[in-house]
Amino acid sequence: PPSFSHMEGSSGLGRADCRAKGGSTGFKVAILGAAGGIGQPLSLLMKMNPLVSVLHLYDVVNTPGVTADISHMDTGAVVRGFLGQQQLEEALTGMDLVIIPAGVPRKPGMTRDDLFNINAGIVKTLCEGIAKCCPNAIVNLISNPVNSTVPIAAEVFKKAGTFDPNRLLGVTMLDAVRANTFVAEVMGLDPREVDVPVIGGHAGVTILPLLSQVKPPCSFTQKEIDYLTNRIQNGGTEVVEAGAGSATLSMAYAAVQFADACLRGLRGDADIVRCAFVASHVTELPFFASKVRLGRCGVEEIYPLGPLNEYERVGLEKAKKELETSIGKGVAFVKK
Ligand code: NAI
Repeated sequence: PPSFSHMEGSSGLGRADCRAKGGSTGFKVAILGAAGGIGQPLSLLMKMNPLVSVLHLYDVVNTPGVTADISHMDTGAVVRGFLGQQQLEEALTGMDLVIIPAGVPRKPGMTRDDLFNINAGIVKTLCEGIAKCCPNAIVNLISNPVNSTVPIAAEVFKKAGTFDPNRLLGVTMLDAVRANTFVAEVMGLDPREVDVPVIGGHAGVTILPLLSQVKPPCSFTQKEIDYLTNRIQNGGTEVVEAGAGSATLSMAYAAVQFADACLRGLRGDADIVRCAFVASHVTELPFFASKVRLGRCGVEEIYPLGPLNEYERVGLEKAKKELETSIGKGVAFVKK
């Protein structure tokens, strides 16, 4: 395919670059899988983010059109498109943050683990590129099964000698976004004021909402707890079964919320706390999703789980059992 990697959607007749220089507020962000169902709205929303000065859109198909289209938005970020493996390295060089929604999504009847065979290889290749071209970038990994793809990424980085556990984050933000929405609905609250910690991982029973720690404090009946836990764990399946594909729009929203938190952390903002699936010591497992504080170096602090009630302790044991298998599968894929 023709190279269009420095196509910025301009005529080339512009005078001196008079955009405000990003300095500490302008970050370089790459989206890998940018032409997909999540990738397109995610690219749109990142082009609107004032913290982004350069936006690289990479995919194996359709990036020229997506890039041309998004580059016409009159926001600050300069957009460049990259198409196909031979342009991956150029897409990644110099990036501060790499967001990865590349890979196949679920169809009705599939679990996230059914995606493993295809997506494991995609994530491995992309992470080899990151290790080579931007080993210090923060990585936001969206591709499923997140419970296995994050361990895959870690193994790739370890092999390359670039692994920094603080810079690799599996994106579980959509689970928290859904939890906030569903809890607000049940309690008659404004979802913007609700904060539900969701820990564990990003698949079925590994998605563990801590309803005992909701802010503002709420007391739920057992029936509400069962309903909410089940709905939060199966929110993704709810979308898949509704028939228009797996979640892309709410995921793009959640990914942008998360990426924005990472960038604000990089900028040095205080008290940026989100849930994410990261290398962790909060349980005996090597990876676990819980609240983390984001800062200039990525994850700067991982918070303890806090007091769990009996229902949550039972859920945690179930979650850990499945997580152990999924993590092992990811590690074995790279080691084999
Ligand atoms: P999609 O099929 O619409 O888009 C995926 C994009 O990845 C396509 O444009 C495809 O060309 C691209 N791609 C494939 N191989 C590639 C490679 N080697 N390098 C770069 N790009 C490549 O899928 P959709 O709906 O955007 O989902 C993407 C992934 O995100 C899926 O694995 C899905 O399961 C996952 N997902 C994760 C969620 C989470 O909460 N973490 C929520 C929803 C989806």
